[in-house]
Amino acid sequence: MKDILQQLEDRRAEARLGGGEKRIAAQHAKGKLTARERLDLLLDEGSFEEFDMFKAHRCTDFDMQDSRPAGDGVVTGWGTVNGRMVYVFSQDFTVFGGSLSETHAEKICKIMDMAVQNGAPVIGLNDSGGARIQEGVASLAGYADVFQRNIMASGVVPQISVIMGPCAGGAVYSPAMTDFIFMVRDSSYMFVTGPDVVKTVTNEIVTAEELGGASTHTRKSSVADGAFEDDVEAMMEVRRLIDFLPASNREKPPVRPFFDAPDRVERSLDTLIPDNLNQPYDMKELILKVADESDFYEIQEDFAKNIITGFIRIEGSTVGVVANQPMVLAGCLDIDSSRKAARFVRFCDAFEIPILTFVDVPGFLPGTGQEYGGVIKHGAKLLFAYGEATVPKVTVITRKAYGGAYDVMASKHLRGDFNYAWPTAEIAVMGAKGAVEILYRSELGDKDKIAQRTKDYEDRFANPFVAAEKGFIDEVIQPHSTRRRVARAFASLRGKQLQNPWKKHDNIPL
Ligand code: HXC
Repeated sequence: MKDILQQLEDRRAEARLGGGEKRIAAQHAKGKLTARERLDLLLDEGSFEEFDMFKAHRCTDFDMQDSRPAGDGVVTGWGTVNGRMVYVFSQDFTVFGGSLSETHAEKICKIMDMAVQNGAPVIGLNDSGGARIQEGVASLAGYADVFQRNIMASGVVPQISVIMGPCAGGAVYSPAMTDFIFMVRDSSYMFVTGPDVVKTVTNEIVTAEELGGASTHTRKSSVADGAFEDDVEAMMEVRRLIDFLPASNREKPPVRPFFDAPDRVERSLDTLIPDNLNQPYDMKELILKVADESDFYEIQEDFAKNIITGFIRIEGSTVGVVANQPMVLAGCLDIDSSRKAARFVRFCDAFEIPILTFVDVPGFLPGTGQEYGGVIKHGAKLLFAYGEATVPKVTVITRKAYGGAYDVMASKHLRGDFNYAWPTAEIAVMGAKGAVEILYRSELGDKDKIAQRTKDYEDRFANPFVAAEKGFIDEVIQPHSTRRRVARAFASLRGKQLQNPWKKHDNIPL
């Protein structure tokens, strides 16, 4: 009996070594942790329960039957993050470069099926040379099986991908269909075709880092939602994110203990808006002052900075925040910011996370670049996302809310539940200067007359009261009481029930 028990331990020890000491050393030399070391950091200590530790591939081509390492290049199972269950897979680059075989895919599919069945997030740690070359189409079939599960799990359980090494070719499409993609700086890259193919086809000379590194995907392409310095930081930040998210669409987001009075008054907010209405200010200050303990988890921090998206808690409950940022492009909406915010709003709505919107928007960015790029369709994404969202929606207009952008930014007309404005709000079709130039074109030569017309327009429209008179603004509030107002609004909406009409699915302008 003792021998059998020892044999099990020996087999486990061998499986845990993956591709062996030499390849583990090579992994460490690249500044990367192994698949198991990453899981140790990601999950609560001692919580990991492994599946299929001894699963091996069935390939016999290229003499592969002579090399059948236990686990086949991916560690799968479940564990907890701060006591809450998550399913995980972690690709082991030390075994055939973490490449995906038929059996490797079966292991991933098994935990994805269990995650959907049992209602818990899936976290994938990707570090792979792609399709297992020796297996050919069997490996492509394995990818497609994973893709299909990504699609079915979308909107049912949160799916998070962390790219911690290579991720190339069709392999990128599994992470691409998950809710959040994070990368590790200098050790991960993602591209559909690598630098060599790019050179052959387009004559462009580009490094892997330039083509698909963390900087490219967080700043240019927006494929990734965030980037971290190293594996350790990446695992810590994924733990932090999981704390904000519900386990599935069948559950409410978690409520955490909080140590911050919901009625905290912030006098400094009374002077947040500069006297000169065209001067920018940092909208993040408002977000941090409204959030419990100033804790803000920003999503896509480095992309389309004219809009801010991320998670905070109010009275311990998760809230998704969308806010125009006057510091960048005056906070206007454009193609990138509309896409960024629309995707975030849809995630929140899918997982019953209430949405708080802070508005200071002078309109949509003009120009041929925007029009040729399809700003009409992309802007409509955000409009659509807000309009279809049935979660509690609280909106605060701090300053400008002009034109179509006023409608888009979670206005009353898109089923906003609480629409507040600060006394500094200006809700109008456009700013005074633009309006006067159109309405009084014939008087443009007369400076004094135009100045008077502009002042008249400002007196009439550059305030929140015209909208408040019509009930489009529920209340004009003092900036210093924003946290209390917002907290009370969300508290009153905990029982909100709102359904959209039955449909197979909508047809959001993609
Ligand atoms: C089998 C692979 C492999 C693969 C790497 N290895 N990729 N084995 N299938 N796809 C093995 C190597 O043979 C090597 O084995 C070990 O992993 C480490 O690889 P190295 O090349 O030594 O590592 P490194 O120099 O860091 O380079 C990593 C790499 C490179 C850039 C990922 O290995 C590479 O280019 N691999 C091929 C990538 C590729 O073309 N994949 C197919 C993409 S198409 P030993 O025994 O020496 O340790 C695709 C389609 C998906 O994925 C379609 C979905 C629909």
